Amino acid sequence: MIGQVVGQARPPIAAAHLRKDAWWALPLTVVVVLTAFVVYSTWAAFPLILQNFHRYAWYVALIFIVFLTWDAILAFRFPDGFGIGVGTLVMWINVILLAGYTFSCHSCRHVCGGHVDIFSKAPRRYTLWHVVSRLNEHHPTFAWLSLVFVGLTDLYIRLVSMGVIRDLRIL
Ligand code: FES
Repeated sequence: MIGQVVGQARPPIAAAHLRKDAWWALPLTVVVVLTAFVVYSTWAAFPLILQNFHRYAWYVALIFIVFLTWDAILAFRFPDGFGIGVGTLVMWINVILLAGYTFSCHSCRHVCGGHVDIFSKAPRRYTLWHVVSRLNEHHPTFAWLSLVFVGLTDLYIRLVSMGVIRDLRIL
């Protein structure tokens, strides 16, 4: 270091030169106010943060709808060819309810037309948004029905795969 011998102790500051005013009050106030702001705004925005996250979760839900639809299509396949069993119906009802739940979501509504400023300039987006808005009115019903039916579908498939029950063939 320039002007200082390495290893030499710093001379003590004379008491007369130490600050006696409340110099720490301003930085402390800034830290307290900023911390309070961050804590309060996080608390106040908490549900909305989840709401925002849920917007992106919607895209993930779409992937599940594709997989479940594919599974439901495969449920028409029997060892001797095409057929319909109770399991086929169960899987299709499950997909329909889950799709109803997913496509009636507010996020879907937003994707379809939520950010369109002038609907008259985007008639297809308007139609899509309008259809999803109608679906959206039944979102809670889809939510409850799909919630229950997902469990029942899993149970049915599990019992059939374990050989506890047989999948009754209808067609
Ligand atoms: S799951 Fe999106 S609004 Fe309910």
